[in-house]
Amino acid sequence: MEFDNIDGSDIPRLGFGTFQIKGEQCRESVEDALNLGYRHIDTARIYGNEEEVGKAISKSGIPREQLFLTTKLWRDELTPDEVPKAVASSLKNLQTDYVDLCLIHWPVNDVPIAETLQAMEEEKQKGHLKHLGVSNFTTYHLDKAEQSGVRLITNQIEYHAMLDQSDVMEKLRQMNMSLSAYSPLARGRLSDHPVLKEVGKKFNKLPSQVALRWLLDQEEVWVLPKSTSHERRKSNYDVFDFNLDEEDFERIKTLEKNKRVINPDFAPVWD
Ligand SMILES: NC(=O)c1ccc[n+]([C@@H]2O[C@H](COP(=O)([O-])OP(=O)(O)OC[C@H]3O[C@@H](n4cnc5c(N)ncnc54)[C@H](OP(=O)(O)O)[C@@H]3O)[C@@H](O)[C@H]2O)c1
Repeated sequence: MEFDNIDGSDIPRLGFGTFQIKGEQCRESVEDALNLGYRHIDTARIYGNEEEVGKAISKSGIPREQLFLTTKLWRDELTPDEVPKAVASSLKNLQTDYVDLCLIHWPVNDVPIAETLQAMEEEKQKGHLKHLGVSNFTTYHLDKAEQSGVRLITNQIEYHAMLDQSDVMEKLRQMNMSLSAYSPLARGRLSDHPVLKEVGKKFNKLPSQVALRWLLDQEEVWVLPKSTSHERRKSNYDVFDFNLDEEDFERIKTLEKNKRVINPDFAPVWD
């Protein structure tokens, strides 16, 4: 299934990530991703590339309503005063009237989650944001978010064939939220994994394509690979013409699952 129908929207489950792609390279990469068929683009204020993402979208000529665009508020933009300013700045950078999804990029300790979410909800009521979500939230933070009563549609976290996220996933299911998988290729580390290679042979697919398919075969998961190369962007999108059989799926499920690749010093205590 290519789309998730959530809160009345058809959301493309495979998106293009833009972390650490800047300037011309970002504009060209996003333009190329859109040409290849990607309709879900993931950026963040801290990536410093919203303007280039906006330019690529404008140049593509694709009607705005056919795109799903995500941005994220950085850690010093989470007070009720800062949220509207950050959103206004993102809309200007992205040359758009609304973003489809706005996330709290990382949880912080000095601003109550409910205050940030209420401020984001006001931006949603004004039509600036279509959907709200969070990122890098643990089950502890999701509990707090749930208590705010604000509707959230996703938690964007690291998830791939070599990292277990079953506790967070169970909580997300309970809250009727999707799991957006960042670093779905473990930042390239899965591209020569022997088990993924062996499974891929059956379908004439690369290990990286098997890694993405394994995530897409989990219906609550959205997947956000990033690449600076045309060929790899193309192959990462070419994952809708096969399905893993149950045996392959289970085999990948039993791989070692403790390889976290994103863990900055301000990260929360993970589940
Ligand atoms: N919310 C957060 O805190 C957070 C954190 C991290 C990431 N993200 C989002 O998730 C997106 C993806 O995560 P990510 O960029 O960390 O990791 P990723 O998509 O797992 O991997 C990207 C890396 O893998 C390489 N790669 C991509 N496709 C490949 C393929 N088919 N075969 C071999 N290597 C391949 C890329 O190199 P080349 O560029 O040379 O192809 C790049 O070095 C980000 O861009 C960002 O939008 C969010």
